[in-house]
Amino acid sequence: MPWSCRRALAVLSMVALSGSALLGSGGAARAAGDADRGKILSYTCLGCHGIDTYKNVYPTYSVPALAGQHPEYLLAALKEYRSGERSHATMHVQAQSLSDQDMEDIALYFAGQVLKPGATPVGTAPDKVAQLCVSCHGKEGVGITGDYPTLAGQHADYLARALEEYKKGDRKNAIMASFAGGISDAEIGQIAQYYSKQVPPLRTEPRRVTILSAQ
Ligand code: HEC
Ligand code: HEC
Repeated sequence: MPWSCRRALAVLSMVALSGSALLGSGGAARAAGDADRGKILSYTCLGCHGIDTYKNVYPTYSVPALAGQHPEYLLAALKEYRSGERSHATMHVQAQSLSDQDMEDIALYFAGQVLKPGATPVGTAPDKVAQLCVSCHGKEGVGITGDYPTLAGQHADYLARALEEYKKGDRKNAIMASFAGGISDAEIGQIAQYYSKQVPPLRTEPRRVTILSAQ
């Protein structure tokens, strides 16, 4: 769909949404004000992040699930795409047109019900997870603070891709580069499988179905 057309749809859905927001109770709508704005702004994101089976085309790997993620991490990720610190052509374009405030609102909306540490781990953690990863990502895959992304239930192929990118230096982060450097390709596969099976999992954002988006 051409960009101008998407913009028009986004504006139309904004009108539709603000109409329905007016019907809700004034107090509640106010408390969730930023996430509500994020919901409107994130309309175009759901073409990829709102479909559970959606894949990045080349190379092929799943689009990450965002619901339940720490909003602080989502915000940091969007800023990294905008600055180019984290390279991905599509996400760079997506992030480029967003202000800091837009990003905060979107991060809050996408995070939704944030996963909390403390769930019972599923299966036996691979040795490297127990030795190297749990201090930040937990055994059950929930980032211990908002700076550390939650991995629980994330698509295994996306987790593996992220680790390979840290290892190769395509994704730049000093902390993760040092940890990823110490694990083999086979271990990456096991670690990605382990974290992807943890529950409760990160989820794909439910896609709003309206007359405008049902296609
Ligand atoms: C054309 C598909 C597509 C669209 C549209 C899209 N994304 Fe993404 N998004 C991706 C892919 C693919 C990745 C993983 C990129 C990578 O490997 O770094 C990603 C990654 C992300 C991440 C990082 C998640 C993590 O765990 O590190 C965030 C946050 C994100 N997108 C938010 C958004 C927002 C907000 C929008 C709308 C403004 C958006 N995306 C639109 C495909 C898309
Ligand atoms: C000292 C804290 C720390 C430790 C230990 C650590 N990480 Fe991370 N991890 C981070 C931070 C911070 C990020 C976000 C970096 C960025 O912005 O790219 C991250 C990002 C990730 C991501 C990308 C998530 C996403 O949504 O894109 C994966 C996968 C990951 N770590 C796996 C691991 C594994 C596996 C280990 C153990 C081998 C590990 N980490 C050890 C801090 C840590």
